[in-house]
Amino acid sequence: MVSGWKAGDEIFYFAPIFDGSGTYAEMHVVDAQFVVRKPARLSHEEAAALPLAATTSWTALHERAALKPGETIVIHAGAGGVGSLAIQLARIAGARVVTTCRPDNEALVRSLGAAETIDYRTTDWIDAVLDLTKGRGADVVFDTVGGDTLSQAPRALADRGRLVTIVDTAKPQNLLAAWGRNLRYDFVFAAPDADKLRAIAELAEKGAFIPVIDSKFPLSQAGAAHAHVEAGGVRGKVVLSGF
Ligand SMILES: NC(=O)c1ccc[n+]([C@@H]2O[C@H](COP(=O)([O-])OP(=O)(O)OC[C@H]3O[C@@H](n4cnc5c(N)ncnc54)[C@H](OP(=O)(O)O)[C@@H]3O)[C@@H](O)[C@H]2O)c1
Repeated sequence: MVSGWKAGDEIFYFAPIFDGSGTYAEMHVVDAQFVVRKPARLSHEEAAALPLAATTSWTALHERAALKPGETIVIHAGAGGVGSLAIQLARIAGARVVTTCRPDNEALVRSLGAAETIDYRTTDWIDAVLDLTKGRGADVVFDTVGGDTLSQAPRALADRGRLVTIVDTAKPQNLLAAWGRNLRYDFVFAAPDADKLRAIAELAEKGAFIPVIDSKFPLSQAGAAHAHVEAGGVRGKVVLSGF
């Protein structure tokens, strides 16, 4: 037993993604350095929805964008697994949150802390952000959808604005509009980080930060869970639990 832990302690962790051992399993070996005490108020299924998406959001908003109170952040796909947590972290940081989602998800994202919503299917998000910021542009854009976001974002960002993307986009991007604006672009490829996860667990323990769970599937139906995700329209995370 690793020092500080005893049998029966409830833990959660962000497992290394590409280390080959896999996490679709009832038992899993993990390096003790990644393990954090699970917030008591969350079930194991709820806790499982947090580590990857919340650590990614934390890294993007705090470590890279250094989001400040009063700033405006555009969070793409606010009803998604990452977006639904990023909205809450941005709200807690005191930022004004603008998010893209379909109208069905407006009530959800507002309940998480979004001040403004943009229907990405019917509205040009750049025009909407410029309207909402009286032409100044947002301080931060958090890109969780890829596509043309990297090339479009300079038109929606204020001078010295920051963009953080988590999408490993294969499409070539024309960044000409970013020139002369002193913008900052960051790519995040999240990594396990127990300190960040402990900070996230503290917020969750206080009830300030909640996982958004779309649905739960037994591990034996992992294929159906993937089909559900691929069908689209998922709100928050899909969780696999025991058999
Ligand atoms: N780099 C990293 O460290 C890292 C970490 C985690 C995730 N990721 C990546 O980040 C991306 C997002 O992950 P996720 O778990 O949040 O995905 P997700 O939950 O599957 O995202 C689905 C959400 O995206 C919305 N959406 C789709 N296209 C959109 C668009 N053009 N504009 C606005 N919203 C849109 C969907 O809305 P509808 O319901 O309206 O379709 C849905 O709410 C994925 O590509 C994932 O692989 C990267």
